[in-house]
Amino acid sequence: MTYRTRDFSGRDLAMMAIGAAAALMAARVLPPLVTQAVGTARGAAGGDPFARLTADHDHFLDLLDAMEETGDDQTFRRTQLLLRLKRGLTAHALAEEDVAYPALEHEVGDIEASRHLYAEHAQMKNWLYELEMIPKDHPAWRDRVRALRRIIASHAREEEEEEFPRLRAALDRRKAMTLSGAMSRERALVL
Ligand SMILES: [Fe+2]
Ligand SMILES: [Fe+2]
Repeated sequence: MTYRTRDFSGRDLAMMAIGAAAALMAARVLPPLVTQAVGTARGAAGGDPFARLTADHDHFLDLLDAMEETGDDQTFRRTQLLLRLKRGLTAHALAEEDVAYPALEHEVGDIEASRHLYAEHAQMKNWLYELEMIPKDHPAWRDRVRALRRIIASHAREEEEEEFPRLRAALDRRKAMTLSGAMSRERALVL
């Protein structure tokens, strides 16, 4: 029995490339959309739209505690923990900067509070940069972790005790649902 091998034409290859690109696009776009639907459903069920952000705060402080406990010789662990922190902070910041803080401006009407929170995020990024710029075995590494923890803890407290409650009070059920979905979608963009 003989098998005929088929040469792929340029058109076939182009179609395959388009198919592969479409699959890749779907793989990257679908998770945020699915997550948005889940977030919206959570909001529709009366869930707190800011619960996930509050849980993130606790997680960041735990990671920073773990970083602080590392020895100067544990450079690989320091790198791992720092990357986990950065990834989590990036997803968290997207949800806040693209959804929660604009809502603070538009739904609560407090532009100053919103700008203040954006400014604190910028400050955190500077501290993160400083932390990344020194070698992981440097004696000052732990001090920089402590400084970063202080600013994150104070910023998180402000959000949890002041700004999230004001947002909750300003949102009706439908808005809370929309925001919950939008914040879930933003977070999923970083996954
Ligand atoms: Fe924040
Ligand atoms: Fe936050």
